Amino acid sequence: MINKSFWLGAIVLFIGMGVHAQKIEGLADTPPMGWNSWNKFACDVNEEMIRGIADAMVESGMKDAGYEYVVIDDCWHGGRDSLGFIYADSAKFPNGMKALADYVHSKGLKLGIYSDAGTETCAGYPGSRGYEYQDALQYAEWGIDYLKYDWCNTENVNPIGAYSTMRDALYKAGRPILFSMCEWGDNQPWEWAEDIGHMWRTTGDIYLCWDCKHDHGGYYSWGVTRILDMQDGLRKYAGPGHWNDPDMLEVGNGMPVNEDRAHFSMWAMLAAPLISGNDLRDMTPETIEILTNDEVIAVDQDSLGVQGFKYSSVDGLETWFKPLDNGEWAVCFFNRGEEEAKVNFDWESEKVVDELFGYEAGFDEITYSLHNLWTMKNEGKTKKAFKGTVPSHDVIMLRLTPVK
Ligand code: GLA
Repeated sequence: MINKSFWLGAIVLFIGMGVHAQKIEGLADTPPMGWNSWNKFACDVNEEMIRGIADAMVESGMKDAGYEYVVIDDCWHGGRDSLGFIYADSAKFPNGMKALADYVHSKGLKLGIYSDAGTETCAGYPGSRGYEYQDALQYAEWGIDYLKYDWCNTENVNPIGAYSTMRDALYKAGRPILFSMCEWGDNQPWEWAEDIGHMWRTTGDIYLCWDCKHDHGGYYSWGVTRILDMQDGLRKYAGPGHWNDPDMLEVGNGMPVNEDRAHFSMWAMLAAPLISGNDLRDMTPETIEILTNDEVIAVDQDSLGVQGFKYSSVDGLETWFKPLDNGEWAVCFFNRGEEEAKVNFDWESEKVVDELFGYEAGFDEITYSLHNLWTMKNEGKTKKAFKGTVPSHDVIMLRLTPVK
């Protein structure tokens, strides 16, 4: 009890000190990568599973590929004690959060947790409203490295105020905690959250399907292509330290391999956070191959931090370009259609310009070599038209490197 009173006093002192709070910089220079429990496990979270996921993240090669955060989503909460401190459900997390964080850290990984800006989380557990500083201190004490902050039960709450308050609380708690805002795009966070969060959800939840809309009775969740279309117009708001988040990956959760590959490729073209959402302890070789494709990940993680854009769309075949560092480009031929699509792309007759960020491919002056990021084959140069066939719901993804 003395210990808890001490901490309460410390909170008051911290607030009183008037340290100018700000976003913690340097945590998301490239889009965050990790895993989150929600897509596969929903409320069925527990310590043993999270430890197993951390083990699998290392053993599967995902850690080496860049995945870092293991994030426990909703439903870990036990309640609040008499002083208001949040604690984990002791049946699900018998050794508590600190021991779990220590374990995850011992694997060279980081631990994330979930809360909500309202009175209760979406699943009805205690939210952080009115407890922001106390919760941030508790997370810091446990050794938490990432906070996903949801938007359920926030009637009459001002979103800028609510997210700024938690940003300030995390800052003052004194531990580098990445702040992942989950406000579903309801209040256009891209317009105001650059200095608040490291990433913000742009849409409602993803749903495990290629192109569907799932009715939950009052609100919807969305298939891969639906979410993709909702990113239109948002690329200008993203960049190093502050990313558009089109929601977590469904790779490995049951779509056909070609759809998983296309989903992963397009999230990389969007410079989206790559937060896997499948059971890492039980993956097919195809799933591992997709999630650990270094060259596709390198497109996502490119240090320029510029989102790709749709260059053209003809009969369901979309051509996307993404400027990369050092004058390179990524190109993705994305076939949304039900039939296979022929690509015949004559580079020298195309004018690819990113007006928003000021990049130009200049195919008439610069020759690029082409490397296929899924077959790993070299595909010649931009002197010659690129010809290929993209199966239905699949991609051809290339990296273009200027030839010296
Ligand atoms: C919301 C979020 C999801 C997930 C659930 C948990 O729907 O958008 O990503 O966190 O809540 O209840």
